[in-house]
Amino acid sequence: MERIYMDYAATAPMLPEALAAYVSAAGDAPGNPSSLHAFGRGARSRVTEARDALSGAIGCRPDELTFTGGGTESDNAALFGAARAQRAKDPRRIGIVTTAVEHHAVLHAAGRLADEGFALTVLPVDRLGRVSLHDAEAAIDDTTAVVSVMYGNNETGTLQPIGDIGELARRHGAVMHVDAVQALGYAPIDVGTLPVDLLSLSAHKIGGPQGVGALYVRTGTPWQPLLYGGSQERRRRAGTENVAGIAAFGVAASLAARTVDARRAHAEAVRDALLTGLRERLGPEAVTLNGDPDPSGRLPHILNIGIEGVSNETLLMNLDLQGIAVSGGSACTSGSLQPSHVLTAMGLSPQFCKNSVRFSFGMGNTISQADKAAEIVATIVARLRKR
Ligand SMILES: Cc1ncc(COP(=O)(O)O)c(C=O)c1O
Repeated sequence: MERIYMDYAATAPMLPEALAAYVSAAGDAPGNPSSLHAFGRGARSRVTEARDALSGAIGCRPDELTFTGGGTESDNAALFGAARAQRAKDPRRIGIVTTAVEHHAVLHAAGRLADEGFALTVLPVDRLGRVSLHDAEAAIDDTTAVVSVMYGNNETGTLQPIGDIGELARRHGAVMHVDAVQALGYAPIDVGTLPVDLLSLSAHKIGGPQGVGALYVRTGTPWQPLLYGGSQERRRRAGTENVAGIAAFGVAASLAARTVDARRAHAEAVRDALLTGLRERLGPEAVTLNGDPDPSGRLPHILNIGIEGVSNETLLMNLDLQGIAVSGGSACTSGSLQPSHVLTAMGLSPQFCKNSVRFSFGMGNTISQADKAAEIVATIVARLRKR
């Protein structure tokens, strides 16, 4: 049985180049990047090389990047670090503004800040999953400490107007954080032109290893670290660096940045083949696209659809039996019985949320896999409907 992996937004397979860098770094002579001897210097140079590669990929200075233990840590470090630093500078700055469709790494961190006395505003989204500038304008003022809005959503791919919201934040002296975990490698990221102060990245969505991420911190941004201890990462993130993981992240990031157009085009072709195949087999009305119908308003590698009358749990299980891996929502919540908070915020009924599945793609997928997946989904749906 050919196994078809269409869950890249949960985690992408490691790229051979990244794996080679990982194995080479992990199997190399021992060396702590903080040690002054030749072994330590060897490890340090791997971290430096990766930092240069990643900073080149997003257009920042190498010293503006801090390696972390993944996207979740980057999001937490961004929110706690900027909120606390802003309040320490000016006790009136206690506003946190975010959106209802953020990843839980942002939403739960923001909730914790509210418990600590910050004033939290969660912006609603429209039917496509997008926040309105009007709502953002009403929520952001001179008491706002941090604004956190994601680049593109992990369940639907919907893009947010981060440039305009970043300008608003800037006008009011608020720190602008963007979770770009799903956007890296699929959308242009240039912090030289984007009005963004903090930006979260994760390696395992672009073919690097799990458990490695990075936080961009624009020079001069009010921000304080989450972890204290040694003086690693210019005292921004204590703890011995994950040298092998960081080396592999650097390789994956430079490949992703160099091939972003090809990655986009490939993901779009696979996505469109799957959607067309499903609509041909099930009928155009039976398949509802969740997210922006205009492809330029979504990340190209994520396709979230609802199939009327079919439970996503049952569909997922049946697809798994046929060797096809997809997801019922974000990987972190798909194990729970709760309907997706993203689709719920978009106004979908709890029942329709449970009819929705997320396919997500990468360079390892082919058009023939998309055709095969469409065929198998249609067969399963026909069988389930007959019951
Ligand atoms: C948008 C977004 N933010 C943050 C994360 C968390 O990243 P990590 O898995 O590296 O902790 C994810 C992972 O699914 C994500 O999709």
